[in-house]
Amino acid sequence: TSAQIGVTGLAVMGRNLARNFARNGYTVALHNRTASRTHDLVAKFGGEGDFVPTETAEEFVAALERPRRLVIMVKAGDPTDAVIEEFAPLLEPGDMIVDGGNAHFADTRRRERALRERGIHFVGTGVSGGEEGALNGPSIMPGGSEESYAALGPMLEKISAKAKDGAPCVTHVGPDGAGHFVKMVHNGIEYADMQLIGEAYQLLRDVAGYSPAQIAGIFRKWNTGRLDSYLIEITAEVLSHVDAATGKPFVDVVVDEAGQKGTGRWTVQIALDLGVPVSGIAEAVFARSLSGHADLRAASKDLAGPTPTALSEPEAAAFADRVEQALYASKIVSYTQGFHEIAAGSEAYGWDIDLGAVASIWRGGCIIRAAFLDRITAAYDARPDLPSLLADKTFAGEIGAAQDDWRAVLVAATVEGVPAPGFAAALAYYDALRADRLPAALTQGQRDFFGAHTYRRTDRDGAFHTLWGGDRSEVPA
Ligand code: 6PG
Repeated sequence: TSAQIGVTGLAVMGRNLARNFARNGYTVALHNRTASRTHDLVAKFGGEGDFVPTETAEEFVAALERPRRLVIMVKAGDPTDAVIEEFAPLLEPGDMIVDGGNAHFADTRRRERALRERGIHFVGTGVSGGEEGALNGPSIMPGGSEESYAALGPMLEKISAKAKDGAPCVTHVGPDGAGHFVKMVHNGIEYADMQLIGEAYQLLRDVAGYSPAQIAGIFRKWNTGRLDSYLIEITAEVLSHVDAATGKPFVDVVVDEAGQKGTGRWTVQIALDLGVPVSGIAEAVFARSLSGHADLRAASKDLAGPTPTALSEPEAAAFADRVEQALYASKIVSYTQGFHEIAAGSEAYGWDIDLGAVASIWRGGCIIRAAFLDRITAAYDARPDLPSLLADKTFAGEIGAAQDDWRAVLVAATVEGVPAPGFAAALAYYDALRADRLPAALTQGQRDFFGAHTYRRTDRDGAFHTLWGGDRSEVPA
């Protein structure tokens, strides 16, 4: 037997990826630490294609044709290192280990370097789309060498999601950690999208007075327009769901503390290191952590808030239209910030990432898939060196057209005491970028005052310092 690809780690993501390869005509070797999972997969889904179940690492490696393509789908972190250490000694130069988990790109860089020295290609690969995507077509973001992509790319293209125009949602993102970096930012954007949708929901509920079922209807309508996306679609599903036990809206019986596994947080941590303002993504991460501080929230329950105003039916409908504008404008900002981070990472690590290609492989399969991504792809196609999404004429025009409503929504949120940190951060970013002058000049003056940190002048080259403690004359630094 010789399998074209092997998958080890057969929890739901690994199992579904293995089935996806088999359904696409590849012979797939299977391995799992506990062999019962392997046999269970074959028993249940053996009819879907050619599987080669194996029990030991040696058997698994022996079942693969050369160069070997070995996909590991285990928990990110130490378990990934353990599995690499188990298999690497059994491999030969030219073989490939593909890590499809949500690894930190710095770990991927370290693993790629170590395996390269042993002649093995390590392909850190972002895979998005959850369980369903893994089975029916995910968006795939592989890093690693050109050579490994030549051997793997065609298979990944086959199993990936396809965009509406038929293009496979996979591209060789760049060397070493580039794929996992891009997956990380995908998840950061995913957090921001979810936060913005959450704020829109809360405003529709608390300011406009709509019920979850009514809001589901509003999201369904939005989903037929420019906000058309997977996350808006599932939001409508979640909001219209009724809890069987209580008959209440599902959203009212779920504890309002959001979990997170770390990829959104990494996006912000790395952005801080790279000096990239991703305020919208940061607010989304902070909103999740704030929600989880039950004690802090309980201790703050009695803080004063405004008296709510009730909206009439037509006022509520008009407000909902404004929220759509605010959501869309804020979404443009999140993507602007996310793509900025990818550009900065690409620059810092020498990855030469094609931003248009990234937008294009996010059009299908992944959690943030949206009609909107077509337009980002078009923006980069029209201008590959686009310095910022906000510099694209179409997006600039749309956000300009939305700004009055965006501001009005934030006024209402403020007056009614409904937190909208994502909308607010996005608008502040927009206003700061278009500002003629920023208070950063004052910050420079303060820094020079207390620490002689010097400043530059608008009218002359060079660095200067004012003798604040003396006669306040200016000296060159
Ligand atoms: C995807 C998802 C996937 C996972 C997230 C959830 O692209 O398919 O992003 O990777 O569901 O890790 O992240 P949190 O648990 O941090 O919300």
